[in-house]
Amino acid sequence: MVSRVIPVETFDLVVFGATGDLWRRKILPGLYHRFAVGQMPDDARIIGVARSDMDRAAFAEAARHILEDFAPRSVDDADTLSEFLQRLDYVSVEASADRGWTELAQSLRSDVIRAFYLSVSPALFGPIAANLSTHGIATPDSRIVVEKPFGHDLKSAKALNADLRRCFEERQIYRIDHYLGKETVQNLMALRFANALWEPLWNSTHIDHVQITVAESLGVEGRGDYYDASGAMRDMVQNHLMQLLCLTAMEPPSKFRSTAVRDEKLKVIEALEPVQQDDIVAGQYRAREGGDSFRDHTGDPDSRTESFVAMKLTIGNWRWAGTPFYLRTGKKLRTRRSEIAVVFRDPPHMIFPKMEARRGNAMIIRLQPDEGITLRNTIKEPGPGGFRLTEVSLDMTFADALDTHAEPQDAYERLIMDVIRGDQTLFMRGDEVEAAWAWVDPIIEGWQEARVTPAPYDAGSSGPEDALMLLHRDGRRWREIG
Ligand code: BG6
Repeated sequence: MVSRVIPVETFDLVVFGATGDLWRRKILPGLYHRFAVGQMPDDARIIGVARSDMDRAAFAEAARHILEDFAPRSVDDADTLSEFLQRLDYVSVEASADRGWTELAQSLRSDVIRAFYLSVSPALFGPIAANLSTHGIATPDSRIVVEKPFGHDLKSAKALNADLRRCFEERQIYRIDHYLGKETVQNLMALRFANALWEPLWNSTHIDHVQITVAESLGVEGRGDYYDASGAMRDMVQNHLMQLLCLTAMEPPSKFRSTAVRDEKLKVIEALEPVQQDDIVAGQYRAREGGDSFRDHTGDPDSRTESFVAMKLTIGNWRWAGTPFYLRTGKKLRTRRSEIAVVFRDPPHMIFPKMEARRGNAMIIRLQPDEGITLRNTIKEPGPGGFRLTEVSLDMTFADALDTHAEPQDAYERLIMDVIRGDQTLFMRGDEVEAAWAWVDPIIEGWQEARVTPAPYDAGSSGPEDALMLLHRDGRRWREIG
């Protein structure tokens, strides 16, 4: 099935940080793909901004090399590539000084959508927003896009929000959480709200517990300093896992519109009960078989930063009282796998003989890789001897079901086009981000006060033993991660 492409209106997209890593790996390839499939009008323009002195031709040439290296789909159509490269421009700007802003203003058209993508350090969000405003570059209809990390704690997130809101209204601000751009994450909403089948079961009467796992096999290679100051709690839980939790737990919004969806997500975060220290496990990976350890990548040989977190959460509302949500995420685990497992309660009365190692009904939403849904069912074991039960899975892989193997789409492609369309549904609102920090801050402060040392786990394992205990003590167990 080839997905329909609805062209967007023409635009001038200004990308600050257009020599950086995200530009190379995600933004530029994403834009190229959208151009190649015909979603971008012929006169759309992408203006790269960075400090380096460079002319348009050098920037376009660098972009050609980047696309050859990073675009997962081929750039073998030379005409398409050169047409795309003609859409690029470059202006050298000093983000927190005066240099370059007048040239940038002059390079923009007055009658098209303007979007400013800040792929830069959060310390530059305020100065760039202020310069866009004082130089008359930001118009009442232009959009500003910011990348994570959006703050380090509640205080800094509030300060960033205040900096942005001095120059832009909330309806113009697009805070990226790239997990919301993933197809399967959006599918979670389709699954819940486009089917009548699940909603009657989607509550604590029928759901025993939910497990949300984002396991990564890569370590912190090359990002040790950033990660040491951040840790899994800030890097993954406050944003990506929180968003997955919200989409799983939220009430059906009245409309599929940004305000309605984001109102419901906010209510979930606000309903989270404070986490007790014994409901949370921090871990840090250590070397195995001559490999590297977390501390090999940080400047601090005694670093107490967590590369793994597992926790038990309770949502204090009528739908979820009595149904815990278990979250875990970590680096350098056995495999890369993200999934949401919704585990249902047992039937109230069992008429069949007890089954060994029964795991029960579950719906597993596989976010990556091998995106799809598995439904675990109990059936009769075939054969004439007795009446024994066994468990089987109904399995659906999106790529097979929809025949989309040939056209995987990166989250950034979707999100950038949503910015141009003016659709904020898949972006975090300011109050959502602040509420998530307000919930995360006490956990991190608790660790600091108690001088918690993360539990060590072997690189390539499934995390620290203590994380297993989190479920064992409740008579449950984690799904295997690989
Ligand atoms: C980023 C984190 O936001 O998400 C990284 O900073 C993490 O540490 C990455 O590896 C995971 O994203 P994905 O799309 O590869 O699951």
